[in-house]
Amino acid sequence: MNNKYKSIFTPWKIGNLKIKNRVVLCPMGGTSIFGWMEKNHFDKQAADLLLEIAKNEVGLVIPGIAPVKDVMFGHWLHKSKKKFSQLKEYMTEFHKTGAKMFIQLTAGFGRSFAIPENMKMLAKNKFLGTLAKPIMNMSYHSASPSELPSRWDETIKCRAITKKEIDKIIYSFGQSAKLCKEAGIDGIEVHAVHEGYLLDQFTTEYTNKRTDEYGGSFENRYRFPVEIVKEIKKQCGKDFPVSVRYSVVSKTKGFDEGALPGEDFVEAGRDMKESEKAAKYLQDAGYDMLNCDNGTYDAWYWAHPPAYMPTNCNLEDVEHIKKFVDIPVVCAGRMTPDVADKSIENKGIDAMGVGRQFLVDPAWVTKLKNGKEEDIQPCICCHNGCFNMAHYKGVANLQDFDDTMHMCRCAINPEMMNDGKFKIIPAKKIKKVAVIGGGVGGMETARIATMRGHKVTIYEKTDKLGGVFLPASVLDFKEYDRMLLKWYVNQVKKLKIEVKFNTEIKDLSSLDADEIVVATGSTPRILRFEGSDKAIDALDYLKGVEVGERVVIIGGGLTGCEIAYDLHKNGKTPIIVEIKNDLIAVKGVCLANSSYLRDYFKTNKVDVHLESSVVKFSNGVVHILGRNGEESKVKADSIIMSVGYTPAPVFQKSKNIHLVGDASHVGNLRTVVWRAWEVAEKI
Ligand SMILES: Cc1cc2nc3c(=O)[nH]c(=O)nc-3n(C[C@H](O)[C@H](O)[C@H](O)COP(=O)(O)OP(=O)(O)OC[C@H]3O[C@@H](n4cnc5c(N)ncnc54)[C@H](O)[C@@H]3O)c2cc1C
Ligand SMILES: Cc1cc2nc3c(=O)[nH]c(=O)nc-3n(C[C@H](O)[C@H](O)[C@H](O)COP(=O)(O)O)c2cc1C
Ligand code: SF4
Repeated sequence: MNNKYKSIFTPWKIGNLKIKNRVVLCPMGGTSIFGWMEKNHFDKQAADLLLEIAKNEVGLVIPGIAPVKDVMFGHWLHKSKKKFSQLKEYMTEFHKTGAKMFIQLTAGFGRSFAIPENMKMLAKNKFLGTLAKPIMNMSYHSASPSELPSRWDETIKCRAITKKEIDKIIYSFGQSAKLCKEAGIDGIEVHAVHEGYLLDQFTTEYTNKRTDEYGGSFENRYRFPVEIVKEIKKQCGKDFPVSVRYSVVSKTKGFDEGALPGEDFVEAGRDMKESEKAAKYLQDAGYDMLNCDNGTYDAWYWAHPPAYMPTNCNLEDVEHIKKFVDIPVVCAGRMTPDVADKSIENKGIDAMGVGRQFLVDPAWVTKLKNGKEEDIQPCICCHNGCFNMAHYKGVANLQDFDDTMHMCRCAINPEMMNDGKFKIIPAKKIKKVAVIGGGVGGMETARIATMRGHKVTIYEKTDKLGGVFLPASVLDFKEYDRMLLKWYVNQVKKLKIEVKFNTEIKDLSSLDADEIVVATGSTPRILRFEGSDKAIDALDYLKGVEVGERVVIIGGGLTGCEIAYDLHKNGKTPIIVEIKNDLIAVKGVCLANSSYLRDYFKTNKVDVHLESSVVKFSNGVVHILGRNGEESKVKADSIIMSVGYTPAPVFQKSKNIHLVGDASHVGNLRTVVWRAWEVAEKI
């Protein structure tokens, strides 16, 4: 065993329940053991994953939320008895691993209910909404403490939930918890006085304007979660452990406005002073554990931290709140084992909560324990596979339907929650495979093809593996991208894949291969205007080309915004010019990631020109054309162009020539890696 993490691998207790170590799999919708879209659906795929995780040295496993009332078709969980008989059978197997399991039951989402762009008419049009009710009751699922704007479309007003509906939810919590207990589940987690979900909306003043016994005073605002734990204890006994998912501080300035780390701001939600009282109040009401983070949907990057957020971003606040309770406290949010171990040793927290890292590598705790850290494929906090709910001005949740139905897939681990679509099966016929290009696309295809038994050679025209991901991962906050790149290069070495460096393939006849994979990447797009020849390409900037103090960035997509963010953090003055009506107005970039950058620019008063384009750069002045034809001028020392990329395959696709990565379709690691598997599995 790796002695470095001694404290993590010590036992602890929740109430009377002993847990073997201090690693908690945090709940992630998508790993829900009860499918919440169909009646009586026990999710075999999620159950298999949870078992695999349990076998890999995890103390406490918490599957993703189980709504007490299904989102689709509106069935009450406690009435879906078949789910519980399947659960009972499963738990016998599960407990053999020595892990414990809590089921996270949710009261609902309130104004945070993610309204898909193509379904927002159900929320806006009363007639259509009523028609769709038996399948998807949008009005119920987005019902909030009082009438509130939806987080996903500010023009949609979510109605106030009724007292009768609250009573039914509390009743169902008790009944569902009892059924869980009878099925062998070790405890319940109540979702959530956290992240701005329904119960959290009840507790915070900016979202609760009720005048009945559930609004107004502190006691009234916390009444709903208190009544729930009392009901569960009534049904299951006082010794049955109940945890609450708890955001220590809301970090919220108001609707759609979060507070950044270190920012001085006026809290609209729960501040630390109230939290000190609330934590103790929840404990005294009967809760046995606080499973903590920070934030709300308005400050979503605290609960779902992107790479811009510091590692262990919630730890300081969680350690503080532990001083006010006697029950165990878990902390999640980009936790690192070294820091978690120290905190556990110093009694700062009781356990580390981890979510996404399990989606990339379900065996990471075993590797950690056995001192095999270099084999852990790191999570890059992109949310591109697991949680890619995008939202920008005028557009509600923009996401492929397939992604809505399958959360918790992973950009860089295609096997994760993908219905067995991606699998490494030994090749029937061993072939010679030539991979042209040693970027992530080439390396991943080579890796999977080699694991299938093929004999693979990578031909790379430079002297390094990594391709465009080398400059793409150069910025300070891309540490985990750099770690991932290192992991890929290591795996290529470990698998003894032959790499021919400084070898540019121009002619197919130079290759002795049965199958050829073209993974030659892309080339940057260029906009032409007077003075555009002085513009620096984004990649050249990332490779080290110097810029002046005032820098205009053409293109406010993800790359342009990340460069602007980095420039600003380094004391320069970025100015962003974007043709669309919002920054990062693209599908697939999670709102938690994009809202961090938007909030950062807003808070730091970065000059952003939307619905605008650059038409001229001359004598240190950039001429910008606005939506109505008005021209503005800004002084600039440099311009960086970041307006996208076009595929650059050196050969075209044919029977035994396969295109992979950006050479096939410009995207991100999700499209690159998933395509690499598709090709490597086929050849
Ligand atoms: C600035 C920037 C930031 C990004 N950030 C992210 C991010 O945060 N998250 C994310 O998921 N995605 C990100 N992306 C996208 C991601 O980096 C790319 O989609 C991915 O790296 C492409 O990999 P690839 O292997 O297809 O191509 P490349 O990485 O471009 O690899 C192509 C390789 O082929 C070699 N080559 C070309 N021609 C030949 C030839 N004839 N013979 C031999 N070798 C040849 C090249 O030298 C190169 O090594 C970013 C992209 C950019 C540009
Ligand atoms: C895809 C996804 C789904 C999530 N669903 C839930 C959920 O159902 N309940 C919950 O309390 N937290 C949920 N979370 C938050 C995680 O439990 C965890 O706190 C968060 O991912 C931060 O931890 P990490 O940085 O280790 O991933 C979800 C996170 C992700 C990525
Ligand atoms: S999709 Fe991205 S954030 Fe989600 S688990 Fe995979 S690497 Fe991590």
